Amino acid sequence: MKLIVNGSEFDVDVPDDVPLLWVLREELGMTGTKFGCGKAVCGACTVHVDGRARRSCSYPVGDVGDREVTTIEGLGDGDTLHVVQQAWLEENVPQCGYCQTGQIMQAVVLLQARPEPTDDEIDAAMSASLCRCGTYTRIRAAIKRAARMLSDATDAEVRR
Ligand code: FES
Ligand code: FES
Repeated sequence: MKLIVNGSEFDVDVPDDVPLLWVLREELGMTGTKFGCGKAVCGACTVHVDGRARRSCSYPVGDVGDREVTTIEGLGDGDTLHVVQQAWLEENVPQCGYCQTGQIMQAVVLLQARPEPTDDEIDAAMSASLCRCGTYTRIRAAIKRAARMLSDATDAEVRR
């Protein structure tokens, strides 16, 4: 089957019911997306499918069809980090780092829907993305920082 991942088309020879996560990691070598629970509970494996956050451990690759998949490897633009990744760095969010791919992918979707999220909206959107290191306070700070960075960029664009 053909898969569109991070803007490129790939041919993969796998059964339809294989989870997307394993195709990304084992067939395409994109190991930035992590395996946590394998049961759509922890969020470590979150990717975007046509811009929506999906748990790739429980998403059969045969269901992807012609939808576009974006992984953490495709979030930035070449060497330029996505603004959410930049905010994550500036807030020193990761501890062990294992959950952070999923956290970032979930946060990007949140900010697309709610460019200036409240604490409650952040908590609601991120509550199912689990972090065993307890980085939730820094995650919230990074989302707010990313929201400010996006807002400043929009203001600058308007003034230009
Ligand atoms: S590994 Fe997919 S939700 Fe936990
Ligand atoms: S940073 Fe370690 S699990 Fe989240």
